[in-house]
Amino acid sequence: MTSLGLFLKSGIRDGKYYKVNKESDNIRLFKIYRYDPSTDEKERIDTYEVDLNDCGPMVLDALIKIKDDIDSTLTFRRSCREGICGSCAMNIDGTNTLACIKSVSEVKSDVNIYPLPHMSVVKDLIPDLSNFYNQLASVKPWLQNNEVTNSSRERLQSEEDRKKLDGLYECVLCACCSTSCPSYWWNGDKYLGPATLLQSYRWIIDSRDSNTKERLEFLDDKFKLYRCHTIMNCTKTCPKKLNPAKAISEIKDLIVKNNI
Ligand code: SF4
Ligand code: SF4
Ligand code: FES
Repeated sequence: MTSLGLFLKSGIRDGKYYKVNKESDNIRLFKIYRYDPSTDEKERIDTYEVDLNDCGPMVLDALIKIKDDIDSTLTFRRSCREGICGSCAMNIDGTNTLACIKSVSEVKSDVNIYPLPHMSVVKDLIPDLSNFYNQLASVKPWLQNNEVTNSSRERLQSEEDRKKLDGLYECVLCACCSTSCPSYWWNGDKYLGPATLLQSYRWIIDSRDSNTKERLEFLDDKFKLYRCHTIMNCTKTCPKKLNPAKAISEIKDLIVKNNI
């Protein structure tokens, strides 16, 4: 596997050019990163002509068209096609985003597509997210409360407490934010990154969870949490318009307030 750095992109060689076999006044070029570690010595950029008159409006529609009609070897993740599953995260036109909610018309020239940056590549546009998921599991992203309740009823929460979860529960774990964070690029083995920290905060402030102190103690670490230097790339890139940088700063405040 190779680790793709943002700054290595310019060194990747040109690969194949796939021409469309019909006349159209609406052809767009898609320049897509290709690499199969099991067969390829080097990465390359393949170029595909796509007739936008014969294709859906989103970048994911174009990728699916390329895979169905032009080159079945192109590999990428997708599932829901509506910004819910988080699988189609990739770097489009220089920004990490979800291909299914990124309109081709938002890109003004050729559409350059790379996998999420600074991650090992499994194949083409598929990054290896094992470390990301292990980090998520480390913050125990589930309700922890040993108080026995009547199992026939849900744990109740006031409207005010429920509102505290807004802007957090919508996270689709796409990893766009973490892979846009310079601190995560250089220390991703130890720094938990914005997505995992936002997920942790989602449980820290949930009134139904009783392990707040343990959660904060776990995060109070110079690498896990304090590698965030408030650069804000995470918040700028989030395709769901969430604010992981704010969640991180609120965790830091809670650590101080709770004398951790
Ligand atoms: S905070 Fe936004 S960018 Fe980060 S994982 Fe969640 S949805 Fe994706
Ligand atoms: S605010 Fe923190 S988490 Fe977000 S990009 Fe900057 S360093 Fe990374
Ligand atoms: S395919 Fe599910 S978020 Fe894009």
